[in-house]
Amino acid sequence: GAGVAITGSGSSVPERYLDNEALSRVVDTSDEWIASRTGIRQRRLADAAGSLRAIATQAAQNALDMAGVAASEIDLIVLATSTPDDLFGSASQIQHDLGATQATAFDLTAACSGFVFGLVTAAQFIQNGVYRKALIIGADVLSRWVDWSDRRTCVLFGDGAGAVVMEASERDRLLGFELRSDGTLNHCLNLAYQGQDRELVDGVAIAQGTFQPITMNGQEVYRFAVKRVPEVIEKALFRAELTVDQIDWLVMHQANQRILDAVAERLGIPSEKVISNMASYGNTSAASIPLALDEAVRRGDIKPDDIIATAGFGAGLTWGAAVFRW
Ligand code: ACO
Repeated sequence: GAGVAITGSGSSVPERYLDNEALSRVVDTSDEWIASRTGIRQRRLADAAGSLRAIATQAAQNALDMAGVAASEIDLIVLATSTPDDLFGSASQIQHDLGATQATAFDLTAACSGFVFGLVTAAQFIQNGVYRKALIIGADVLSRWVDWSDRRTCVLFGDGAGAVVMEASERDRLLGFELRSDGTLNHCLNLAYQGQDRELVDGVAIAQGTFQPITMNGQEVYRFAVKRVPEVIEKALFRAELTVDQIDWLVMHQANQRILDAVAERLGIPSEKVISNMASYGNTSAASIPLALDEAVRRGDIKPDDIIATAGFGAGLTWGAAVFRW
């Protein structure tokens, strides 16, 4: 089969931001509490219907521009999101907005692991020789689904989008990956539909309602991430026939600075190799990895041929790592 290479990245966030000080006027919290427990200082917030589509399209266009690929050349669009503008899928909306007329487009839901799951999914199609050029987008607007009166969750999340272009390449630059799920821990983190039973006709009930705001057991998620994320990074490295010291950059899901620090410490990765933009954006779910990656590329930190380890973790619970050469 063919190899794959990432040839461009892009990102986009809403203009409006809310810092911790302003947030402390919404719920009983403080900059000190949030920053010391999470590393977060501010987050971007989208305020309009259709905003998922808008930021995801912009991130994708920026990635296409970097790759020098026209939208019309794209064969596949995978949109990793838990917060589509349309539950039937937002990938087709983005396909339309980009003018990617030849692309097959679908949504993929794996919460904060969505980008890594999407990256690996798209790679299979290209490695099989079915497609040659793919867009993988991670985008979420969790602000829509957070309970803004619950200080244990609302301080953590922000909105954003990131994307990469992946193309067939003679030399395979996706070196190893490992994806995992554990539904026994599903109760730790949910954005669950809840319907009220209503009898439609005799003996036939339907349940209509809406999604309940995010619920989370923070400490369980914390323990899970710190234990499980190093395992999948090690597994992906093993498959890549690489050792930890060969990693140039660790681009993890940006959920909490303490999780980044603990995972890096367990693996023995020095902090200067760990990319963090949590202070500016909070936890942007499926967007956080491509957003952090794109910023590091545009800063000039990530250079051609650097070895990058990405790792996502989140609701499901799901987690996964992918190691690739830039
Ligand atoms: N401001 C002020 N006080 C707060 C806040 C807040 N925003 N939130 C909670 N507190 C209080 C609590 O009420 C509690 O007070 P009490 O002891 O009087 O009841 C106290 O602070 C400690 O609360 P804990 O929940 O024990 O705080 P903890 O140190 O565990 O930190 C946190 C909470 C930051 C959520 C941590 O558990 C964590 O980071 N977990 C991982 C969560 C995560 O990363 N989730 C997302 C990953 S998956 C995904 O991305 C979707």
